Amino acid sequence: MRLILLGPPGAGKGTQAAFITEKFGIPQISTGDMLRAAVKAQTPLGLEAKKIMDAGGLVSDDIIIGLVSDRLKQDDCKNGYLFDGFPRTIPQADALKDANVALDYVVEIVVPEENIIERMSGRRVHPASGRSYHLKFNPPRAPGVDDVTGEPLVQRDDDREETVRHRLSVYREQTRPLVDYYSQWAETGAPGAPAYRQLSGVGEVEE
Ligand code: AP5
Ligand code: ZN
Repeated sequence: MRLILLGPPGAGKGTQAAFITEKFGIPQISTGDMLRAAVKAQTPLGLEAKKIMDAGGLVSDDIIIGLVSDRLKQDDCKNGYLFDGFPRTIPQADALKDANVALDYVVEIVVPEENIIERMSGRRVHPASGRSYHLKFNPPRAPGVDDVTGEPLVQRDDDREETVRHRLSVYREQTRPLVDYYSQWAETGAPGAPAYRQLSGVGEVEE
């Protein structure tokens, strides 16, 4: 299974990715998680990315395309992969296409914008794994700690309301065009074109 999860900040890409990757035994390739790991490790890339991420902007296409192409060379990608938060611009999507990276599905998670601010303000994450919780909608079993490791949960630096609003406008301008890009490609039925599906991201947090 090779797929892209597409959707705005807070749509639940990371949440659904956990169910799908477990079901199919495939790795989750989250460019956001990869960048946050680089920030934590204070690599030169991480130091540069941190400023952009905290402001809610997008890291440059060249950097992201390099990260993903290195990641795809690893052995665990042989039987499939799930892209979460990538591609996010037309040049990123073109880079995948030009490299003939196989795709079975593009799944768009549809969530109204009014739900998103509340989701982000209540989100708590386990930094090492990227697991997401929500104080009200998807609480951890014990308050403030990760279900699997028992380690503390934290709030993401880019989840302030003002930053979330900016991330949403960046989504509308730079990422939303991928909805047409992939749905129109799917309609052609051309060899190698992925199927396009919409998934409602509103409702219980479950498989
Ligand atoms: P990234 O980490 O990809 O952030 P994002 O796309 O903004 O998405 P989020 O992780 O915020 O949301 P999500 O859809 O995963 O939602 P979640 O499942 O956590 O990117 C961060 C930054 O990195 C970017 O701003 C950019 O700077 C940079 N970056 C990353 N990739 C890049 C790229 N390709 N190119 C350039 N720059 C890049 O759920 C959200 C909350 O809602 C949680 O609290 C969850 O518990 C809750 N929730 C989930 N489902 C439900 C439900 N059904 N009902 C109620 N609550 C729910
Ligand atoms: Zn995420």
